Amino acid sequence: MAAPVTLLFIGDLVGEPAVAFTCAVLPKLFEQYAVDFCVVNAENAHQGRGLNDVIVRKLFDAGVDVITGGDHSFDKHLVFPLMDREPRLLRPYNYPEGVPGFGFGIYELPARQLKLAVINLRGQAFFQNPISDPFRAADTVLAEVLPQTPIVFVDFHAEATAEKAGLALYLDGRISALVGTHTHVPTADERVLPGGTGFLSDAGATCPRHSVIGMDIDVALQRFLLQMPQKYELAKGLHRLHGALVSIDPETGHCLSMTRIAVDEEA
Ligand SMILES: [Fe+2]
Ligand SMILES: [Fe+2]
Repeated sequence: MAAPVTLLFIGDLVGEPAVAFTCAVLPKLFEQYAVDFCVVNAENAHQGRGLNDVIVRKLFDAGVDVITGGDHSFDKHLVFPLMDREPRLLRPYNYPEGVPGFGFGIYELPARQLKLAVINLRGQAFFQNPISDPFRAADTVLAEVLPQTPIVFVDFHAEATAEKAGLALYLDGRISALVGTHTHVPTADERVLPGGTGFLSDAGATCPRHSVIGMDIDVALQRFLLQMPQKYELAKGLHRLHGALVSIDPETGHCLSMTRIAVDEEA
């Protein structure tokens, strides 16, 4: 068997300090795990909502290969022109036609003479704005992707664990791995499904540990106590990076192992 492809996925980066922490630890992670390809979800990178050109550049310069998004991908309009011309910057595929950006891409791994596809999808459950069915959307994208490569990674940005497990099982055997994002809390259900697809319901966020999913605690509590909208404020303090390592057989595209990782920022 050809050497496995190691994909490192990192869950929702919340705020610029999380971007800086991620960029600082990436060289160590790349070396430690012999990473071939790195995907980072950065939907909350700019002050907790959306992202901007500077953040995108920093992440690519640090060795990130593809940036994925979610419901917050469209929060900062200044990044829209970059989304339209940068195929390594993704937003969920199943948004209506006409939104900026790309929902999937096929990328070269020149060192390995391989191609790898990344697909970004968003769930339907518990979101305010309706978008199209991610199950049928995945079928549509895979019809285009699978003739070109069996190595397919999906970031499924969704709230409901059942929807995440459902899509992973629906795609089992057709994709290499599906990892969920959006809840900012990692789940402990990583496994390889019977058809060979790696699955983890949620990678968790990369954000300050002492926070409410990355948000300042006082602001978050006021939201609950007063039931009024509050201005989003990032939490401060030491970060924890959450992600997953996916080992993939490049010939079959099957997942060999799915392992959660966490890295704590040191004081
Ligand atoms: Fe998020
Ligand atoms: Fe989200």
